Amino acid sequence: MTADLSDYAERLIRGRRATRAFRPDAVPEETLRAVFSLAGAAPSNSNTQPWHIEVVSGVARERLGDALVDAHAGKRLSMDFPYHDDLYRGPYQQRRQQAGERMYGAVGIRRDDHAAREAYNAESLRFYGAPHVALLFTAPNAEVRMAADVGIYAQTLMLAMTAYGIASCPQGLLGFYADTIRAELGVEDRKVLLGISFGYADDTAPANSVRIPRAELAETTRFHA
Ligand SMILES: Cc1cc2nc3c(=O)[nH]c(=O)nc-3n(C[C@H](O)[C@H](O)[C@H](O)COP(=O)(O)O)c2cc1C
Repeated sequence: MTADLSDYAERLIRGRRATRAFRPDAVPEETLRAVFSLAGAAPSNSNTQPWHIEVVSGVARERLGDALVDAHAGKRLSMDFPYHDDLYRGPYQQRRQQAGERMYGAVGIRRDDHAAREAYNAESLRFYGAPHVALLFTAPNAEVRMAADVGIYAQTLMLAMTAYGIASCPQGLLGFYADTIRAELGVEDRKVLLGISFGYADDTAPANSVRIPRAELAETTRFHA
């Protein structure tokens, strides 16, 4: 009989949250290796595993953060996977707005305070203070199917981190500066989808008090029989 892991699954999956304030302590190298090895067990289309991960810490992380903030200030946007503001419509837009209100609200930023929101986003390019960031790349010719595999890898990685007591924040915004990331990390032509900032959560920080709700099951899922 298979072991019943439902209790672990509840704790693991619901225990992961986007974390936006970290303690400065680095994750030990042995733990890093364990977590990234575990993430490699993620499934992919025909087992192609079309992901390449650059884990950035220490001085390299400082340099990358500086370069991203600089690219942001200079409006040097470069995206491998396009994004535009009207991508999210109807219920998606409503949920996005609700999440934004909670996220900014937790750090005392009002809905109409665009300057403060902009400053918070710019500063997030320093990985919300996390001591590490993993940049998730895929093949140079990647399209949506490979990006989907990298998304599955990303969640597997974040759950593996949760199991080891490591907090994370997936940051699509980092992928808005793909050329800067490639130049800083010496990556030639692979496409970058997103970054995952990670480390140990600062549980006292207001930013980490955010709880983002989910849609009711019936809103997203139909059962056919
Ligand atoms: C692909 C992806 C990109 C994201 N990009 C960002 C980002 O750029 N900045 C940020 O603060 N949070 C980002 N998030 C975190 C989401 O806002 C967060 O997962 C969502 O609001 C649900 O909250 P929870 O993860 O705490 O449950 C991203 C999440 C995903 C999956």
